[in-house]
Amino acid sequence: MSLYAIGDLHLHFQSPLKARAQMKERVWKNHEEKFKKNCAALLRAEDTLVLAGDHSWGRDLEECGEDLRYIAELPGRKILLRGNHDMFWDANKTDRLNELFAGKLFFLQNNYCRYGDYALVGTKGHCFEGPFYVDGRGRILGWDEKAEDHAKKLIQRELQRLRCSFEAARADGFRRFIVFLHYPPTSILEEESGFTAMAEEYGAEQLIYAHSHGEARFHDSIQGEKNGVLYSLVSGDYRKWQPLKVLD
Ligand SMILES: [Fe+2]
Ligand SMILES: [Fe+2]
Repeated sequence: MSLYAIGDLHLHFQSPLKARAQMKERVWKNHEEKFKKNCAALLRAEDTLVLAGDHSWGRDLEECGEDLRYIAELPGRKILLRGNHDMFWDANKTDRLNELFAGKLFFLQNNYCRYGDYALVGTKGHCFEGPFYVDGRGRILGWDEKAEDHAKKLIQRELQRLRCSFEAARADGFRRFIVFLHYPPTSILEEESGFTAMAEEYGAEQLIYAHSHGEARFHDSIQGEKNGVLYSLVSGDYRKWQPLKVLD
């Protein structure tokens, strides 16, 4: 039994492609086929695959139907996080999604999932992404403070959701945690954040995140071990569509 993770599939079986990189860059060419093949070779029925958000370009559940079916048909148990592009997922109706897809997909938000003696906890997360004002050498001189204030509010809400996930698991007796976020845990300005603090507070062993895709973004946040937590980026193009093994 193994636990794997990957993110940012950005499927578009029924919807128009919206990202320029996805139309032009080689890594995205037939990525659905590559990923499906990699999963078939890697995953067994008893394994778990966490998909760390940005599943589909579809605007609603109907337009995401084939994308979600593609995910459901991958081997193993599938756990989904909410990404910033997942318009089909109303944050207040996660229970409804879990009823609709019971036995096929599990939607992780304000709840948790058991994996052996671990609890898999998570939420979309958030971090401030600018706009930044830079000089000719790319050095940051300042940023849009109104946008930063707005980001701070979203971060607080996501921190509440993550705590809710941790507490649900803790109430059921879990003491070992793996955290999943869609957004990186820190912005490019930060070395630590509310998310890193919470991971440390609960003694989480790993924090897995996605969202940073395109080579220029791969090092926007923490990778490797920091204060006892192992951080990994699992955006699909970064992983070249090969899921990361998180646990045996
Ligand atoms: Fe994405
Ligand atoms: Fe994203």
